[in-house]
Amino acid sequence: MQEKKGIYIETYGCQMNLNDSEIVSSIVQEAGFLIEKKIEKADMIFINTCSVRENAERRIFERLIHLKQYKKRKPRLIVALLGCMAKNLQAELLEKSEILDFVVGPDEYRKLPELIREAFNKNRALAVQPNNAETYDDIIPYRENSISAFVSIMRGCNNFCSYCVVPYTRGRERSRKSASIVREVKSLSKKGIKEITFLGQNVNSYFCPESKIHFASLLENCAAANPHIWFRFMTSHPKDMSDELIEVISSYENICKHLHFPLQSGANRILRMMNRKYTYEHYLSLVEKIRLKNPDCAISTDIISGFPSETIEEHKQTLSALKTIRYDSAFMFKYSQRPRTKAEHFPDDLPEEEKIRRLNEIIALQSSISRELNKNEIGKIHLALVEGKSKRNPKQWRARSGTNKLIIFDLPEVEIKIGDLIELKITKSTSATLFGEFV
Ligand code: SAH
Ligand code: SF4
Ligand code: F3S
Repeated sequence: MQEKKGIYIETYGCQMNLNDSEIVSSIVQEAGFLIEKKIEKADMIFINTCSVRENAERRIFERLIHLKQYKKRKPRLIVALLGCMAKNLQAELLEKSEILDFVVGPDEYRKLPELIREAFNKNRALAVQPNNAETYDDIIPYRENSISAFVSIMRGCNNFCSYCVVPYTRGRERSRKSASIVREVKSLSKKGIKEITFLGQNVNSYFCPESKIHFASLLENCAAANPHIWFRFMTSHPKDMSDELIEVISSYENICKHLHFPLQSGANRILRMMNRKYTYEHYLSLVEKIRLKNPDCAISTDIISGFPSETIEEHKQTLSALKTIRYDSAFMFKYSQRPRTKAEHFPDDLPEEEKIRRLNEIIALQSSISRELNKNEIGKIHLALVEGKSKRNPKQWRARSGTNKLIIFDLPEVEIKIGDLIELKITKSTSATLFGEFV
């Protein structure tokens, strides 16, 4: 009998891409291939890529150059590029990188068995057609983590924020059928999963055309039916934040009190240019509503600094928004011009040093706020899900609170295992981490 060929998958980008790699793993295993953990042993290397910023693409080009030596050592090795870059750059990739055997976009993963066969016959191929009906509804992702699961409930995005490439790489927004999501959650529950994160680029605009269910009801139904599972979700767009969703978050203990709620900029003119469809004042009123209903809810954000034509005044408005809102944490980026987006036609007019200076100012302010907020946690007791050993100190363990804070703790006398819910009293903190003791 011929031995099964092994595939090593490397994933870049967002959680949706991670979940896509699990879908890919499931498709190829069904077709008779193995998932290989060690890159050196693999017969095929799949790189699942991200296009969101120029930096992300640059990293992947560097990785492809590095992979050349693997192919030299093993001439029959197959290297494939998957994901958002595949859709974004298409044929250019096959031309630019001679080590690639095939390139496949996010809507064409069902073709993988065929593409692999062609590659073994030495035919290079490109499969990047958009398919706005594809949701991979019937495919059960192959998951290695037995505690936490990502569940993509929708694909694509219709928002066309002017800076963003995602609507072009992932196509139109489409929601999975609610029945298939409920089925997947039920099967994860049977397997003993402790935490589920619902994913979508715009998760709160979820709508199942068949059952007429909106996101708030989907979340409520799943949380009510599975009280022993923690539910999280991301990313919520401010323009789709409903009172109903705010109510549901506050009504269920097993819906985590953490909201990722990207603001992007504190200046209304920039928000308009970004096509975000809300004003800073409206955003602020939503934050107030959320905090009124859920005083302990942690809120995090994304900020883009140095957007085309951003004035110093507008940059200061973003700083002042951070001071007013006091986010628990933030992902902060320097604007990166992306091909095919609307903002590509706005002159990228800020000098690089000024963009970096503004970004550093934002990062410094936010980390001082995070540090202060985390200091306030000292003395409090958090219920937290044990994730495993600490990455820095193998003698310590790490857990995550419902508010999405990482808590490092010393292993107590009693036996503790990954997936346990434990209470930790916070004793120390930094801007990014809490330290606690078992109570
Ligand atoms: N769908 C999510 C986020 C998708 S991308 C949302 O709407 O919030 C994640 C983050 O990357 C964005 O929130 C934005 O802050 C950042 N981003 C996207 N395109 C960018 C670009 N061209 N330059 C810099 N940052 C960008
Ligand atoms: Fe991009 Fe905007 Fe869609 Fe988020 S909502 S993925 S930032 S276009
Ligand atoms: Fe990147 Fe695509 Fe996600 S561009 S952020 S991997 S949707």
